[in-house]
Amino acid sequence: MWLSFLLLLFSASLFTQKTVWKLGVNGLGVNWGTISSHPLPPSVVVNLLQANKISKVKLFDADSNVVGALAGTGIEVMVAIPNEMLEMISSSMDAANNWVHDNVTHHTFTGGVNIRYVAVGNEPFLRSYNGTFNNVTLPALLNIQKALSIANLTGQVKATVPLNADVLSNGNSTLPSGGIFRPDIHTLMLKLASFLHKNGAPFSVNIYPFLSLQQNVNFPEDFAFFEGTQHALIDGPRTYTNVFDASYDMLVTALEGIGYPNMPIIVGEVGWPTDGDMNANLDNARRFNQELVNHALSGKGTPLRPGKPIELYLFGLIDEDKKSIAPGNFERHWGIYSYDGRGKYALDLSGKGRSNFNLPKAEGVSYLPLRWCVLNPSGDMSKLAENVGYACTSADCTALTYGGSCNSIGGDGNASYAFNNYYQLNNQNKDACYFDGLGMVTTEDPSIGSCKFPVQLVPSYFDSAATTYFTHLSITITMGFATATLSFVFQF
Ligand SMILES: *[C@@H]1O[C@H](CO)[C@@H](O)[C@H](O)[C@H]1NC(C)=O
Ligand SMILES: *[C@@H]1O[C@H](CO)[C@@H](O)[C@H](O)[C@H]1NC(C)=O
Ligand SMILES: *[C@@H]1O[C@H](CO)[C@@H](O)[C@H](O)[C@H]1NC(C)=O
Ligand SMILES: *[C@@H]1O[C@H](CO)[C@@H](O)[C@H](O)[C@H]1NC(C)=O
Ligand SMILES: *[C@@H]1O[C@H](CO)[C@@H](O)[C@H](O)[C@H]1NC(C)=O
Ligand SMILES: *[C@@H]1O[C@H](CO)[C@@H](O)[C@H](O)[C@H]1NC(C)=O
Repeated sequence: MWLSFLLLLFSASLFTQKTVWKLGVNGLGVNWGTISSHPLPPSVVVNLLQANKISKVKLFDADSNVVGALAGTGIEVMVAIPNEMLEMISSSMDAANNWVHDNVTHHTFTGGVNIRYVAVGNEPFLRSYNGTFNNVTLPALLNIQKALSIANLTGQVKATVPLNADVLSNGNSTLPSGGIFRPDIHTLMLKLASFLHKNGAPFSVNIYPFLSLQQNVNFPEDFAFFEGTQHALIDGPRTYTNVFDASYDMLVTALEGIGYPNMPIIVGEVGWPTDGDMNANLDNARRFNQELVNHALSGKGTPLRPGKPIELYLFGLIDEDKKSIAPGNFERHWGIYSYDGRGKYALDLSGKGRSNFNLPKAEGVSYLPLRWCVLNPSGDMSKLAENVGYACTSADCTALTYGGSCNSIGGDGNASYAFNNYYQLNNQNKDACYFDGLGMVTTEDPSIGSCKFPVQLVPSYFDSAATTYFTHLSITITMGFATATLSFVFQF
């Protein structure tokens, strides 16, 4: 207890000295995902990034509307090749050249977009993919590297493969010092690390302490956070007080074990959701993300890399109401911002440790009229369940589930919530509030306490592009489920 108290004091005194060094390329990054029914226009999001002085952004594809909106901002950008394109790019140098031409070179003119990374695939070695991408990932990476070289971009753009922490295995030990790569992909990891090393590219890993807690009822809650713990993990001479450092150092050990003890590491995704699960709420998310940011920007490092900056991209910037919920109902609530660009809780992203610092809100957001669809109590209740079910197959009803922010609003409240989300999803089309006569439109906000009934945004041009994109990539989304379900959870 005393020790951690002293460490806190120590890190607080470091804030002032390290501020300057944090702001450049070492600043904080965020993930900008766009699997939303009504995504904010890219220009609005870019202004939001700038208002937050966010210096790095990670994308999941290379939509030219999104990438283009980052031109002239200086923000470092990671563009990405979805897993479904890996096979094509692995087998065709033309495909690799075209991808780099259209999605990198096209944007990197002087005054254009500061693209620094190409993510080749997204967690392609996830255990639950059953090896589907094992044979194509490295050849695709190789071809993209060649294409970058042909385009004379290798000095400024690095190719890497964002991996889930499930590439790690505890081996025979549950301690960070026992970290090894999963035996089934050991050779792949060896080749990957060697390739990254040769090209001066970082290793990229996603770490999710939330899932450790969510998937294991015996997981000591305080070990998921950073404030010291009753359950410190003693690993030889090192003491771990949080699962983030423990997971990070387990990766450091695994890299050391294959001969790359100093390989730079990027934490490509890390964060905490706010709804749809018992552990997903505003307080936990605020606590985790604030402590995480303070920790990363303090320059304190981890026990195996003391004093080294931790480079990370928060997951995520904005909620995404169309994400697959196969991993859990929390999946649509990872944003530090709600769908309409309002900060969900106080969060100081500067690392200066200011408490109750409110995130700036997005400017220029256009809402549909202040109208909601709710249950008409004089309707035919025998058709209620069927209609609620219908609404929830396409609308987002995740806040209604156990542990969610709208779980205790009662049966009628449930119906109203479902009807309203369906109505908003359909841009307040009056037919979308019919429900066999069970729906009615109201101008009175039906929100109940912390259960908010949303009013959607005016659809932008960008939406129609996104809609086509969902239909087109429905396979991706279905497969994307595995991202969290079977990800690595730190054993305790
Ligand atoms: C560039 O990226 C976009 C969006 O990810 C993708 O649809 C397109 O196919 C890519 N271009 C090429 C030539 O592969
Ligand atoms: C992987 O294998 C399991 C068990 O055989 C199966 O249920 C699952 O659908 C497979 N996943 C993929 C992505 O092929
Ligand atoms: C990957 O390659 C190996 C060896 O050539 C082969 O046995 C395996 O079936 C391939 N896997 C897939 C998913 O294509
Ligand atoms: C790359 O650089 C070489 C040598 O400076 C030059 O000859 C070539 O035209 C450049 N290629 C591109 C695509 O700019
Ligand atoms: C785990 O223990 C077994 C039996 O002692 C040993 O053969 C194996 O090499 C160990 N594995 C690792 C990764 O240390
Ligand atoms: C409201 O819906 C949720 C999610 O389906 C359910 O857990 C809850 O029991 C429902 N409440 C009532 C009163 O029906």
